[in-house]
Amino acid sequence: MVLKCIECGREYPEDELRYRCECGGLLEVVTELDKAEDVFDGKNITLWKYESWLPVEKRVSLNEGGTPLYRLKNLGEELGAPKLYAKNEGNNPTGSFKDRGMTVGVSKALELGMDKVICASTGNTSASLAAYAAKAGIKAYVLVPSGKIALGKLAQAMIYGAQVVPVSGNFDDALRVVVKASGELGVYMLNSINPFRLEGQKTIALEIYDQLGFVPDNVLLPVGNAGNISAIWKGFKELKEAGITDELPRMIGIQAEGAAPLASAWKEGKPFKPVEKPETVATAIRIGNPANWPKAWRAVKESGGTLEMVSDEEILRAQELLASKEGLFVEPASATSLAGLIKLLESGEIGSDESYVLITTGHGLKDPNIVVERFTLPEPIEPTLEAFKEVMK
Ligand SMILES: Cc1ncc(COP(=O)(O)O)c(C=O)c1O
Ligand SMILES: [Zn+2]
Repeated sequence: MVLKCIECGREYPEDELRYRCECGGLLEVVTELDKAEDVFDGKNITLWKYESWLPVEKRVSLNEGGTPLYRLKNLGEELGAPKLYAKNEGNNPTGSFKDRGMTVGVSKALELGMDKVICASTGNTSASLAAYAAKAGIKAYVLVPSGKIALGKLAQAMIYGAQVVPVSGNFDDALRVVVKASGELGVYMLNSINPFRLEGQKTIALEIYDQLGFVPDNVLLPVGNAGNISAIWKGFKELKEAGITDELPRMIGIQAEGAAPLASAWKEGKPFKPVEKPETVATAIRIGNPANWPKAWRAVKESGGTLEMVSDEEILRAQELLASKEGLFVEPASATSLAGLIKLLESGEIGSDESYVLITTGHGLKDPNIVVERFTLPEPIEPTLEAFKEVMK
């Protein structure tokens, strides 16, 4: 197995410690598809069911993957898009899809003999890396934008024992430090430019196919640093290349309006340009310079998909809809999938009779403040039946 540059095609051995090509291009793992087994029987789904598709031998696991794929009947009827599903990644061990990347990435760190790992994070990556480093018994440094990470994620990173380093600046600033530190200080970087992380995350595609028994017409998901959309597309492409299925989905990436460098370039037909001061209520995707943008751009283009942006108001409305109509409590970033679907259905850019899988990337409990700040509780009542009868009126 080798690492290959997506720009110039140069190959590197898998045990060479590097994150980018000499030319600066992003690297991807070339999967040995002749060894990838057809295990798609819809049963006993966990991430490690797909071990033969993954580039690691060791296994640092907290039982990730195997997340539920819900049919969203209520919302599907309401929106006139009956074939609507959600793959709920909040059900992973630390409450987000990042666990898929970290089980593979931290396993790789051990294989490479690394005993220190590092990441920049809008929150979920730090929570996940902290947990897997704890399990592996290695040291984790996590750099987060000071004051801009959701409470639950911060609590997770702290209790799992990572060294949490707040940075004055945003995610993009923190990532710049991490890239330098990994180059000069001998710490293994587990941001999503690490191609092994994306190998773990491609299992979302394998699971969707395993659970549905077919490839959906469209997959919608939030785009921040743009790793996940690239990873899921790679998973679907490999299913096709391995001869498991002939179908491919359209990849539809959704960004928040205040942090939408990819969606705005796409819609305006202009070259990619970073956003200097990204801002959105969806802190997980408050990213102005997505490191994986060339991979994501290709995923959308090759798949015939699209990129869209939604307002904070649309995101919070979609978050409420998922919770109140389907019993699914997701964090704001995850609700962009539904907000984007609603927008694209309304504009007529997509048709309602196709199948749609929303990737709900992280659990709602990660960011409780966003909810309790929006809703007001009434004054307390006297502890009597009479008082409660008044309420029921
Ligand atoms: C909940 C959630 N959704 C979406 C994303 C964006 O994923 P990516 O950075 O791979 O585009 C993140 C990344 O931090 C996240 O935490
Ligand atoms: Zn190259």
